[in-house]
Amino acid sequence: MTRLVVIGAQWGDEGKGKIVDFLARKAEVVVRYQGGNNAGHTVEAGGNTYKLHLIPSGILYPDTLCIVGNGTVIDPKVILQEIDDLNKRGINTSNLRISDRSHTIMPYHVKIDEIEEDRKGEANIGTTRRGIGPCYMDKMERIGIRVCDLLEPGIFREKLTTNLEMKNAVLEKIYGQQPMDMEKIYTEYCEYAKRLKPYVADTTVLLHNAVKADKKILFEGAQGTLLDNDLGTYPFVTSSHPVSGGVCIGAGIGPTHISHVTGVVKAYITRVGKGPFPTELLDDIGSLIREKGNEYGTTTGRPRRCGWLDATVLKYAARINGLGSIAVTKLDVLGGLKKLKICIGYEHQGRIIEEFPASLAVLEKCKPIYEEMDGWEEDISGVKEYRLLPANAKRYLERIEEVSGAEISMVSVGPARDQTIVVKERL
Ligand code: GDP
Ligand code: IMO
Ligand code: MG
Repeated sequence: MTRLVVIGAQWGDEGKGKIVDFLARKAEVVVRYQGGNNAGHTVEAGGNTYKLHLIPSGILYPDTLCIVGNGTVIDPKVILQEIDDLNKRGINTSNLRISDRSHTIMPYHVKIDEIEEDRKGEANIGTTRRGIGPCYMDKMERIGIRVCDLLEPGIFREKLTTNLEMKNAVLEKIYGQQPMDMEKIYTEYCEYAKRLKPYVADTTVLLHNAVKADKKILFEGAQGTLLDNDLGTYPFVTSSHPVSGGVCIGAGIGPTHISHVTGVVKAYITRVGKGPFPTELLDDIGSLIREKGNEYGTTTGRPRRCGWLDATVLKYAARINGLGSIAVTKLDVLGGLKKLKICIGYEHQGRIIEEFPASLAVLEKCKPIYEEMDGWEEDISGVKEYRLLPANAKRYLERIEEVSGAEISMVSVGPARDQTIVVKERL
């Protein structure tokens, strides 16, 4: 592993936090490059559970430089709370650096996210209501407030005044809401700025120096491939680029410096929020997987929709991310199921579809074509070596490799660090 990208290959919550934490033991730098506190990455270490939203999952290692890159959106209140919580639990955050180019989530972003979700009613996206979309909208509209702007009281006041004039007009005239108080926000956010300042840096320089020194760098994706704004199930996506291509822009690093991409793949699939999901299980098996796998959102607590593994999704993820390997997580959760299914393609109006379609109208009508495999009875959560897995578990994994076209490098059989089987040390 020199400069390794770890992305989610499905709809998020694949277990990226656990895998990044495991790999971070060998990393010198860990970088988040997109998204914000819509992410919830769970890391279990030393009997403690940490739920990280913005801070990279490398933070539990005291000597690891943790970078929150320019492609992210920062809610100052949330990141400061996360820093405080970690410090209270004895985790040192002095190696955390936040990009001066990242954008600030302001209270009106959160408010607009909430109002828009409510207004859309049944047709909503099911966002995390953390202001992510509205903040990225401002970024693209070129009116956003970057962290470097937040740190300059004069510039911050000017930008906030212009923005709030417009946002308040929208809040009052379109949504019939109360306007927001300029001075209150200004004072509150200037305080956050003071506290954030020691962490803020030009992270592209830090990264460049790390590359020059040939340091081991890990890029931690948030969300997942199918939530990518360009390549996901649009419009039921997030507003950033969770795919591996997002690293270059979101961290400020050239593509020539990426050495390997690994995709985190849950042994089944989950999705939170709305949007088509061909292999969704609305029966007892779906509920069983949800309960056994504790499939409830890390950020919002919403029950996750559960379904069978979909090879069409995996092939797509392998293609657009350039996956060199995959890490399969939560294999333990499938133990005890008599039969397992893998979707190997879709049937759409009498035709076979082998490639993941762009049109949601098509995807909604796709019927999964399943291959059935025998399950295993054994509890595998204590298995430490690949060869000791039950024969049917190995068959399931081998089939995942065949249908996705990507080699498995790791298998996770539980949330803890030591519940990780390294199949091939090729990362
Ligand atoms: P992320 O967003 O991709 O980092 O994933 P989340 O943390 O939101 O969700 C994954 C959940 O599964 C967390 O509660 C993890 O602790 C847990 N987890 C990760 N790997 C495994 C595993 O192999 N087996 C089990 N049973 N739980 C796991
Ligand atoms: P991690 O990093 C799963 C989903 C939301 C919604 C859509 C848009 O933990 O895997 P947003 O608030 O981003 O505008 O919501 O994206 N979503 C996630 N689903 N895991 C996540 O992050 C997610 N972050 C956003 O549920 O469907
Ligand atoms: Mg998550």
